[in-house]
Amino acid sequence: MFQTLAPAEPDKILQLIGLFREDQRPEKLDLGVGVYKDPARQTPVMAAVRKAEMKVIESQASKSYLGLEGHTGFNAAITGLALGDHLDPARTRTIQAPGGSGAIRILAELLASAQPDAVVYLSDPTWPNHLPTMTAAGLNTKTYRYFDPSTGGVRFDSMLESLSAAAPGDIVVLHGCCHNPTGANISPQQWPVLAEFLVEKHLIPFVDMAYQGFGDGLDVDAGGLRCLADAVPELVAAISCSKNFGVYCDRVGAAILIGRNSRETDTAFGQLKSLARRNYSMPPNHAAAAVFTILQDSGLRSEWHDELDRMRTRMLRLRTEFADALRQKSGTGRFDFLASHRGMFSRLGLSLQQVARLRSEKAVYMVGDSRINVAGLPDPGLDRLAESIVSVMND
Ligand code: LMR
Repeated sequence: MFQTLAPAEPDKILQLIGLFREDQRPEKLDLGVGVYKDPARQTPVMAAVRKAEMKVIESQASKSYLGLEGHTGFNAAITGLALGDHLDPARTRTIQAPGGSGAIRILAELLASAQPDAVVYLSDPTWPNHLPTMTAAGLNTKTYRYFDPSTGGVRFDSMLESLSAAAPGDIVVLHGCCHNPTGANISPQQWPVLAEFLVEKHLIPFVDMAYQGFGDGLDVDAGGLRCLADAVPELVAAISCSKNFGVYCDRVGAAILIGRNSRETDTAFGQLKSLARRNYSMPPNHAAAAVFTILQDSGLRSEWHDELDRMRTRMLRLRTEFADALRQKSGTGRFDFLASHRGMFSRLGLSLQQVARLRSEKAVYMVGDSRINVAGLPDPGLDRLAESIVSVMND
């Protein structure tokens, strides 16, 4: 039967992981997949996470099923972290999900059954898994204008103009913070304008927040989502713990629903649980229990927060230093935008050929659209990398 299948389209980010692993050159540099790296180029288990995991293992009396919602303590704690005091408990429900991607998938399926004719608007560009996940859930998609490569910023007016074509009930996918792949973000002044626009046009925000705490801090990063939660009657949000708790392979995330009233939200939540049952039944517990342990223990919470802040400020420092190194080596300010971007990613604005040459000639790996993982920048070694980048631009 398998002869009927065509080869799968490889995911361009995951494909890079394989190519990098096979590369035998000792100087190879991975700026591809979005995992945090420390100065030793490792992706460490965060100290508070390690301690919380030990507590979980020591206190766990049973591994019996918890139910379709997963760990309800985790759900309450992660919803609090995301929404802060903008949380309306009567209208908000949360289900634990296998990573942010799992949350996106079940939310997309929920929207497809609630509004089968709705169009999902994705930013141009967006994280490469958004489009196939929405399509696989049966939703129609379109893109909205977002990134301006000439300035490295968001074309906000143009974004609203392209979203004006959307019909009432259509869905707009927004990156809560730290836009992936561009690093260009909607500003705190723009979120209320966007919220008002969405309310006026009867559009439903679908917020993907995978990097809370990687931009300007936990509360500032959640500002967009909180602003929308205050303003719109309905929204969905996918939350990932992969990056800010560093629990990538343990797959912990959450899907949050905000409905018009508690009755409608409860019905939607029941449907969401049944979608989980059909897809994977129940989410993995271990790291959700660890995240819960951290968030409800003031000592562990502040230890985690401090480590997260050190990761964040390290990325900010690398951004500034790399922009300086590129300014010096290129003799232009064309990369200055790197310093004002936030989160793990920025697009350098190189061509596919230049990205391919960096890989083959300099053993520097980045996604084909020239997205770099800022946390993967060599520290020290920025000057040499800047030189390599300028060399492929000048030939
Ligand atoms: C990335 O964009 O590199 C990360 O979100 C990892 C992934 O799943 O693609």
